[in-house]
Amino acid sequence: MPAETITITDNRTGKTYEVPIQDETIRATDLRKIKVDAEDFGLMTYDPAYMNTASCKSTITFIDGDKGILNYRGYPIEQLAEHGSYLETAYLLWKGQLPTAEELAAFTAEVNANLPLPENFARIYDGFGRDAHPMSLLMTGFAAMAAAYPDAKHVLDKECRTTQIYRGLAQAMTLGAWGYRFRKGLPMVAPKAGLSFAGNFLYMLFGEEADPRLVHAMDILFILHADHEQNCSTSTMRLVGSSQADPFSSLAAASAALYGPLHGGANEAVLKMLRHIGSVENIPEFIEKVKAGEGRLMGFGHRVYKNYDPRARIIKAAAENVFAVTGKNPLLDVASELEKIALHDEYFIKRKLYPNVDFYSGLIYEALGFPAEMFTVLFAIPRVSGWLSQWEELMCDDDQKIGRPRQIYLGSPKRDYTPVADRG
Ligand code: CMC
Repeated sequence: MPAETITITDNRTGKTYEVPIQDETIRATDLRKIKVDAEDFGLMTYDPAYMNTASCKSTITFIDGDKGILNYRGYPIEQLAEHGSYLETAYLLWKGQLPTAEELAAFTAEVNANLPLPENFARIYDGFGRDAHPMSLLMTGFAAMAAAYPDAKHVLDKECRTTQIYRGLAQAMTLGAWGYRFRKGLPMVAPKAGLSFAGNFLYMLFGEEADPRLVHAMDILFILHADHEQNCSTSTMRLVGSSQADPFSSLAAASAALYGPLHGGANEAVLKMLRHIGSVENIPEFIEKVKAGEGRLMGFGHRVYKNYDPRARIIKAAAENVFAVTGKNPLLDVASELEKIALHDEYFIKRKLYPNVDFYSGLIYEALGFPAEMFTVLFAIPRVSGWLSQWEELMCDDDQKIGRPRQIYLGSPKRDYTPVADRG
């Protein structure tokens, strides 16, 4: 067997170094021994935007971006979306196995018992205007949970973490529903016993039980959004969590990362883009502008997928079922034509830009009755299961310490302070 190592020659000194390879990866810290002299700090890697850096070892989610594969704990996303439920998926992500019937019943009961928000929470949003963005309200809600549950800071205690995970999973949904109703000036609706997680969510939003086909579509969307390995928001969850901050503070930070239009905010941006395009005949002009660098085709492209995002394919199929109940969203024609044109255009082909999860989800959300501002909240609620599972994995990982990247300092060398009166 050839050695699982790489030999590096430093042409500055002529020295060679043997560096172990494990899991097709070298440890960046192994490069530190490569020095010009004893004073030298040692070699570092420069990787802005983490294009080629594994920040952790994980057993939760697998993505093959070239083949368009997404598995949670080994189970293909297509199978989970077809046969599973969101709470089953949340259990799987956290515990590593699909639950038995009894385990699922106990898990569901515990999540449901945690749905009500802490007392007096109702007053927190009152300081905001009705035009506050629902993602800002959600972030506020998570930060407020940190204040309401001071016991959550005992992050090294497994039992304590379990309590917080149930609270986070459940109350993310309640906060989402509450933000929606607050913006409309409507009173909060209490959860109803006997409904599924997605069914209860739609009930708490709209105040009545939704058509089971719409509940099913919502459940599928929750499954598809539950985790996606080390994306921007999950990495934020882990980075803040690595300082041993409480999980609700980390959730507030993770949802702030998700809010951005290049990440979870893209679903809202897609709908705005489709509305802006308006009709099929305006597409060629829009595409030309994108190719000229005047804005991006939102809902297209992905750091990891260089193929069709498997979630986009499932969402496209689920959209048909939703439209059978709600009537077709007229923007679907614009989206389908946009996709067709982009997939045959050299600019997008060359850069391997395909529709991502956000391209079609907004059309379903709109058909379900959500305003565009709510879309990222609909992404965040199920993503809490992924964020918390990744956080639990982090807390149990002996390799992990506080996250602290290095930098390449290119600023001024040391210089002496000049009093303000002496500055020219
Ligand atoms: N429209 C037009 N051009 C694009 C797009 C796009 N959506 N995405 C990437 N490109 C171009 C980009 O201009 C660059 O071209 P060039 O090589 O000529 O400079 C090339 O493709 C590579 O792009 P990049 O920005 O280096 O790629 P990245 O991996 O840093 O960015 C991305 C990934 C998802 C941020 C990006 O594709 C994008 O901005 N997409 C639109 C926003 C979006 O839909 N985001 C949701 C992502 S999926 C869900 C989630 O993560 O929340």
